[in-house]
Amino acid sequence: MHFRPDLLAGKTAFVTGGGSGICKGIAHALLAHGATVAIAGRKADRLEVAARELEAGSGQRCLATPCDVREPDTVEAALDRTLTELGRLDIVVNGAAGNFLAPASQLSSNGFRTVLAIDALGTFNVCRAAFDRWLRDHGGAILNVSATLHYGATPLQIHASAAKAAVDAITRSLALEWGRLGIRVNGLAPGPIADTEGMARLAPGDVAEKLAARIPLGRCGRIDEVATLALFLVSDASSLVHGTTVVADGGAWLAGTSLDL
Ligand code: HXC
Ligand code: NAP
Repeated sequence: MHFRPDLLAGKTAFVTGGGSGICKGIAHALLAHGATVAIAGRKADRLEVAARELEAGSGQRCLATPCDVREPDTVEAALDRTLTELGRLDIVVNGAAGNFLAPASQLSSNGFRTVLAIDALGTFNVCRAAFDRWLRDHGGAILNVSATLHYGATPLQIHASAAKAAVDAITRSLALEWGRLGIRVNGLAPGPIADTEGMARLAPGDVAEKLAARIPLGRCGRIDEVATLALFLVSDASSLVHGTTVVADGGAWLAGTSLDL
């Protein structure tokens, strides 16, 4: 543990995508540092199992609040339930995302739209609803989970690259508009992270190993390493950090390690 265990005592977080992968790891870290947490995703059953597991591992309250981030009504209901049951909303983590490998020449309009809608519109929907319900009057911290796909260009990822570029723009725009209200807004861009759905989809088989060999630190990241950075960015430890997206990728994108192997 890198931070005091009471780093987030008394705070409440809403984490989309918190039922699996990287954002489940972020939820775990928030709980382990004293926060209560609501996790959101579409699959209610998986979310409930994850919430019970996270709760048992931390002794902190974890609430499953199913929603589809593309649908503002369901997002609003999930946030209302979070506020009713947990009483406050200090931290919002936007981690819900969709992705798959597809050449632009074969990607349908709906395929492109779907990923944009989950990543970018979903992030906006959650920020907007959280602003109305709590953040405008109380301040807080927003963390948008991005990627480095669009820093150069990544083959077979036109949809996700456009979506994460939009997420980064949302981070900057909200930082500009909401900073004076005491709302800090930042992003976190992981590189390839082992044992995740993202890597299973984008780097199947031995691609992950080949990719790791080209990363300057010589390996893919771990979920707990991303979660530690998330803790820093949503806590007062980063009180002057605002409107930026911090990369945690072992130097991968600098070395041009696209998934084109
Ligand atoms: C081409 C595809 C496709 C594929 C779906 N589509 N999968 N096109 N190749 N593999 C198209 C469909 O044909 C359809 O278009 C449109 O996308 C919508 O598909 P649905 O299945 O109806 O969408 P939905 O049920 O809403 O599911 C969304 C999803 C799905 C994104 C398609 O994969 C999902 O639920 N993913 C969530 C989990 C996930 O992706 N995790 C990984 C995140 S990793 P048509 O035209 O046929 O109607 C990540 C990493 C970033 O983000 C960076 C890593 C380095
Ligand atoms: P993951 O486990 O598949 O996480 C994605 C989550 O988003 C799932 O829990 C999923 O839950 C949720 N979700 C998807 N569509 C949703 C919707 N419409 N409404 C609500 N929730 C939705 O994948 P991961 O690899 O851990 O990725 C997590 C985050 O890190 C994503 O933002 C991803 O882009 C980013 N990232 C990952 C990597 C990597 O190496 N894995 C690299 C860079 C960036 P449901 O299916 O239940 O809805």
